[in-house]
Amino acid sequence: MKVIIIGAGVAGLAIAWRMAKSGAQVLVLDRAQPARGATYASAGMIAATAEIAVAGSPGVLFGRRSRDLWPDFAKELESASGVEITFRQDGALIVSAGSEDAERLQREAMGGEAEFLSPEQARMRAPMLPPDIAGALWAPRDGQVDNRALGQALTNAAIRAGAKLSANEAAVRIEQADSGEFVVLTAFRIHRADVVVLAAGAWSGQIGGLAADLPIRPVKGEMLALAAPEGEAMPGPLLWGHGVYLVPRKDRIFIGATVEEVGFDTKPSAHARSWLLERAHALVPGLREWSVREHWAGLRPASPDGLPIIGESGIPGLFIASGQYRNGILLAPALAEAVAQLILKLEPAEEIAAFSPVRFDRAL
Ligand code: GLY
Repeated sequence: MKVIIIGAGVAGLAIAWRMAKSGAQVLVLDRAQPARGATYASAGMIAATAEIAVAGSPGVLFGRRSRDLWPDFAKELESASGVEITFRQDGALIVSAGSEDAERLQREAMGGEAEFLSPEQARMRAPMLPPDIAGALWAPRDGQVDNRALGQALTNAAIRAGAKLSANEAAVRIEQADSGEFVVLTAFRIHRADVVVLAAGAWSGQIGGLAADLPIRPVKGEMLALAAPEGEAMPGPLLWGHGVYLVPRKDRIFIGATVEEVGFDTKPSAHARSWLLERAHALVPGLREWSVREHWAGLRPASPDGLPIIGESGIPGLFIASGQYRNGILLAPALAEAVAQLILKLEPAEEIAAFSPVRFDRAL
């Protein structure tokens, strides 16, 4: 079976790895370099509890499924790629600033995935938090991975499993010949395949031909990386509060993220920098001593109803793996597993049904 995957981000590469391992002939096309889009720009969060607030929706269950797949996925990937990806499941604290917020978080803790902590308990887990917090929701199973290493690891693993990767080759159009074979046109060549998977992140709605109606739009997110003063570090859980999150990495902290709909603009802005810093300083005042080392922006792929678009389209053999919005890293293991199962005509996880591309009233 010949499979073309459009997009070499975390989703496209994970699917390529799975499909190449199953014996398919896989070609991955990317408009730029592998894993240099949202995969690179993200904070590597695997935060099924903290990120997905609306308990009980199909998105939550699939997120938890993927979270539970992560430990084995990480081990298998490290051994297949030879790249260390620093997967950590050391929890998230969602900090509340006031008593109303604390009450809401206490109610949300009832879901069983999290527990409400007093200010003292929360500060035992994250000593840099100020004493005047009203408490925090503790999500012990949330975690993170080094997303940039993850991109390299998936690239290696897919190639070692036999996938071919063509960088700087943007797919322009997907067509289907009378024989049923798919034809993918790029600026340079015409590629043919039995199966096409569209996993181009925020660009998934920009490919002409059969997938031209895919309703995906880019949502910009800006982030900062702060470096610790000499001898300091802030290891420990992810922290959320004051509208931002903090992701501790060795001697750095990532602060994220803005949410803005401004098309494909990825320019970092002075306005976002001060917004992120102000909020991070309110959450952890000690960060005033830390210096900004990096400032970047990425584009999240968003669908009209906020759920991912994963599955076979109305055109048999054309699959979509997009719309992960804020959860591309979290969802990668379950998404790759489900898409590979669908292509191989095996039974995928049942939660995937809610993400079908055919739920939208479009040609797809
Ligand atoms: N997952 C974090 C974000 O999208 O900002």
